[in-house]
Amino acid sequence: MFKSQLKALSVIVFSSLVIGQSYSADEGKQLDVSEAAFNCISEFAASGRFFVDNILGNLDETLAVANSSNGGNYPPGSLLTLIPSEAMIKHKQGWNPATNDWEFFLLDISADSTSISVRGGAEVASPSGSCFGCHQLARPEWDLVCGISHGCAPIAFNLEQIRAAQAMDPRCSKEN
Ligand code: HEC
Repeated sequence: MFKSQLKALSVIVFSSLVIGQSYSADEGKQLDVSEAAFNCISEFAASGRFFVDNILGNLDETLAVANSSNGGNYPPGSLLTLIPSEAMIKHKQGWNPATNDWEFFLLDISADSTSISVRGGAEVASPSGSCFGCHQLARPEWDLVCGISHGCAPIAFNLEQIRAAQAMDPRCSKEN
């Protein structure tokens, strides 16, 4: 208990240290992410509770890691999303070592469009807290992906609520 509190505290201290710092040492390692990368969540490939894509076209490798029972490193271009308004995308190796090269996104979604409201590294926070603060608690072999048993603090939604949020993605309504 004490140990986990200490870990949570160090996350807060660490997160506040990196706020405002530039994390892209090499722009060549940054993928070009446009709003077109995001779409109706159920048009992506399903992996358990979440959905995946690969913006570089390498979906097979992304799915192989997502479906692996012992983890692995996601390839560059991997896009993961659980709740339609939140996503994470993997840049090229070395883009931001502090977040394993993941960039976190908060999205404004409507029936007609997706716009990026916030994006970045450890400083990005959802209404329920820092993305990185929770996700970095995943054991190293899981590459910041939480699932339900990788060591992250739980979110406040159960599977039924997650499925409901996914089903309410307004970008999917045109197909119904
Ligand atoms: C309170 C801790 C917490 C915060 C804050 C949080 N997450 Fe998560 N996230 C989790 C947990 C736990 C899961 C797994 C939930 C499940 O499957 O039931 C998860 C799942 C996900 C997934 C699916 C892949 C995975 O890791 O299982 C993505 C993508 C994701 N979150 C992105 C984000 C983004 C982007 C933010 C910030 C905008 C964020 N999360 C904020 C804890 C958190």
